[in-house]
Amino acid sequence: MNKKTFKGLDQFENVKNWFDTIIDSSFDGLWICDKDGNIIRINKAAETMNELKSIEVVGRNMRELVREGFFDKSITLEAIKKKTSVTMLQHTRTGKKILVTSNPIFNEEGEITFVVSNDRDITELDHLRSQLHETQDLMKRYSAKLSELEIKSEDPHSFVYHSKEMRQIYEMAVRVAKVDSTVLLLGESGVGKSILAHLIHQQSERVKGPFIRVDCVGIPDSLIESELFGYVKGAFTGARPEGKAGLFELANKGTLFLDEIGEIPLNIQSKLLRFLEKHEVNRVGGTGVKEIDVRIIAATNMNIEEMVSTKRFRADLYYRLNVVPIVIPPLSERRDDILSLLFYYLQKFNQKYQKEKTFSPAVIDLLCDFNFPGNVRELSNLIERMVVTTEKSYMELSDLPQGIINRIHQSDQNNYGIYENLSLKEASEKFELIMIGRTIKNYGSQKKASKILRVDQATISRKLNKRQSQCKMQ
Ligand SMILES: Nc1ncnc2c1ncn2[C@@H]1O[C@H](COP(=O)(O)OP(=O)(O)OP(=O)(O)O)[C@@H](O)[C@H]1O
Ligand SMILES: [Mg+2]
Repeated sequence: MNKKTFKGLDQFENVKNWFDTIIDSSFDGLWICDKDGNIIRINKAAETMNELKSIEVVGRNMRELVREGFFDKSITLEAIKKKTSVTMLQHTRTGKKILVTSNPIFNEEGEITFVVSNDRDITELDHLRSQLHETQDLMKRYSAKLSELEIKSEDPHSFVYHSKEMRQIYEMAVRVAKVDSTVLLLGESGVGKSILAHLIHQQSERVKGPFIRVDCVGIPDSLIESELFGYVKGAFTGARPEGKAGLFELANKGTLFLDEIGEIPLNIQSKLLRFLEKHEVNRVGGTGVKEIDVRIIAATNMNIEEMVSTKRFRADLYYRLNVVPIVIPPLSERRDDILSLLFYYLQKFNQKYQKEKTFSPAVIDLLCDFNFPGNVRELSNLIERMVVTTEKSYMELSDLPQGIINRIHQSDQNNYGIYENLSLKEASEKFELIMIGRTIKNYGSQKKASKILRVDQATISRKLNKRQSQCKMQ
C-alpha cells in the first residue's frame, strides 16, 4: 500500500470524513486501488451493486477476487496493464452486469499511484431494454392485427347501395382497384369516402399489405412532415434516439389513404408531390432515400378545384392526385339508397344490441324523404339511437327524435321538392301517406286517425301495407 499517501490523508481527519461522505453519496460504485490492484477503499454503492461487504475485499488484491469468482474479470488490472483508462462490461457472481470504467492516476514521474474505478449497474437497464423491445414487437403485432381486423370488418357486403348512381360508383371502384392508379374521392362529409377507400384496398392485389390512413387534419402542422416521412436518429430535440419510420414507409406494399387531403399545409404539399412523383421517402434529417411501393387514395370533402384557383392547393399536386376522380353524391341526391341503408343499419344494430326492433311504415316513409344533411353517418347514428332508446319493438313516428320531426315538418311546409318528378297519382299517394303518418302520430292510433281523416280504418291499413310491401320489394 502507498503509506505516504495515507499518512498525508490521516493528517486531515476532517478532510477524510468529508471525502468519505462524498464517495458514499455517489450512486455509482467506486473502487480505489493502488498501483498493484490492492483494494484501498470501496463505497456503499459498490457494496450494494456487487452484493458484498467492504471488509471482505479491502486489503485484498483484485487477482484474488477474480480467482474466487467475485467477478469474471478485473477492469482495474486491465487499466494498470494498459496504463490508460479502460471501460468494460463485468459480470458479477450474482449475475449482475456492471459497466466499469477504471481510470489510472499518475504521479509526477508518470507512474501509476492509484486506480479509481466506477461501476454502473446496467442489469436493470438491460432488462428494461429487452422489455422495451418486447413491447415494441407486441405493438407491431397488435397494430398489424388491428388493421387486419379493421379491413375484415369492412367486408364488401357492408357497402350498401341500391341507386343507379351508387352502383356505377361501386363498379368503378372495383374496376380501378385492380390497377394501381391514384384515386381521388370527393363528396360531402359522411357520404362514404372512407369506406370506399377500404373497399378499393380490399378489392386490390394489395389486400395482404397494410392499409394506412393518414388523417391530414389530425396531425399538428409541426409534426406532419416527420409523421409522414419519418426521421433519422437525432433529427430534432425530443426525437426518438433510434429514429422513426413515417406513415409512408409503414404503408410499403399496401395502400396509403390520404384522408382530408385539402387540409394539408402548402409546404408539405410540395413534399407530397415529390413523393408522388418518385415514390421515394427521405426521412427528416436524413440524406439517403428509400423507395416505397404504395397505391395512393386521397379524399376530401372540400371544394378542391376552388382551392386550386385560389392557390390554397397546388395545381400540380391536384393533377397528380386527380388521376381517377370518384365523386360520391350526397344521400339526398340518391334517395333510392335510403331504404336499403335503413334496413341494413336496423339489422346491424338489432344484432349488436340483441333487439328485434322494426319500423312502422310511416317512419320508413318519412325517413326516405328526409334530407340527411350528415349523409350516411347521420342515418346510421339516428337508427342506432332509435334502436337503443325506444322501449317498444315497433318503432313509430312518435319514437323519432324531436329534432328530426321538427326538421321534417319544416321542410314539408317549406318546399314541395319531395313531389318533384312524380306523377299526380304518385304525388297524391305520397301526400296521403304523409297525412296518414302524421295523423296517426298526432292521435296515437290508426283507429283515431281513420275518424279524423274520415275513411275506414281498413283503407288506412291497406295504404300502409301497400307502401310496406313496396319497400320490401326494393
Ligand atoms: N354505402 C354505404 N354502406 C354502408 N355504410 C356506409 C356507406 N356509406 C357510408 N357508410 C357509413 O357511414 C359512415 C360515414 O362514412 P365515411 O366515414 O366513409 O364517410 P366520409 O365520406 O369519409 O366522411 P368524412 O368526410 O366526414 O370523413 C361510416 O360509418 C360508414 O361505414
Ligand atoms: Mg372519411
